Amino acid sequence: MPDWDKIFNEKGYVFVDPHPDMSRIASLFRAQGVRRILDLGCGTGRHLAFLSQEGFEVSGFDSSSAALEMAIKWLEEENLSADMHLGRMEEPFPYSDGFFDAVISIQVIHHNMMKDILVTIREIERVLKIGGYIFVTVAILSPRPKKSEDGWKLHQVEDGTFIPQSGPESGIPHHYFTEDELHKVLINFQILEMYVDDTDHRCVLATKKS
Ligand SMILES: C[S@@+](CC[C@H](N)C(=O)[O-])C[C@H]1O[C@@H](n2cnc3c(N)ncnc32)[C@H](O)[C@@H]1O
Repeated sequence: MPDWDKIFNEKGYVFVDPHPDMSRIASLFRAQGVRRILDLGCGTGRHLAFLSQEGFEVSGFDSSSAALEMAIKWLEEENLSADMHLGRMEEPFPYSDGFFDAVISIQVIHHNMMKDILVTIREIERVLKIGGYIFVTVAILSPRPKKSEDGWKLHQVEDGTFIPQSGPESGIPHHYFTEDELHKVLINFQILEMYVDDTDHRCVLATKKS
């Protein structure tokens, strides 16, 4: 069974520093009047802490109670706050329509089968106001093999989706997005930037169309 709780309980705060572009994205958000941000799949809270520190109202959503507990501890230690929800991204989000000015999701939405990814993207659209921003990073089939994925024994379960049969992320689906596919699934967004970051994830900065 896919088990993020086990990963976080064993490895602790896997990510500590924010995504290398988060500072630039935060400046852009501020300049565009963004106030409320959803961090979808917030994990142990590196972006909640960073964005809260930057003065945004942040909400964290994740399916791992271990991750959420660690995120809450981190925020408390830094005297910061965030609204937190435990839930699955392929199910309706617990927020009203148009509630957020921006949604970020770093290395999260590709951890599902495509039918569920499409539900997640529709939910992101629903909770985002018109003209609101997304900054999303997803897995791609890397031009250079990733050291961290050595020995994963990837088993293909549908077009573009693989499940490692061993290693720390064993049992967790990974959908490797093509650029074309991202344009298709984000049809209701105006893409502003699309590029591959230093960790070989494709980043998308976009706004919700009217
Ligand atoms: C690679 S970690 C990234 C965490 C965080 N975004 C960061 O950048 O530090 C993936 C996160 O997605 C969460 N996740 C995976 N599947 C999920 C699902 N179906 N619904 C909600 N969260 C999920 C995991 O619990 C984990 O926290």
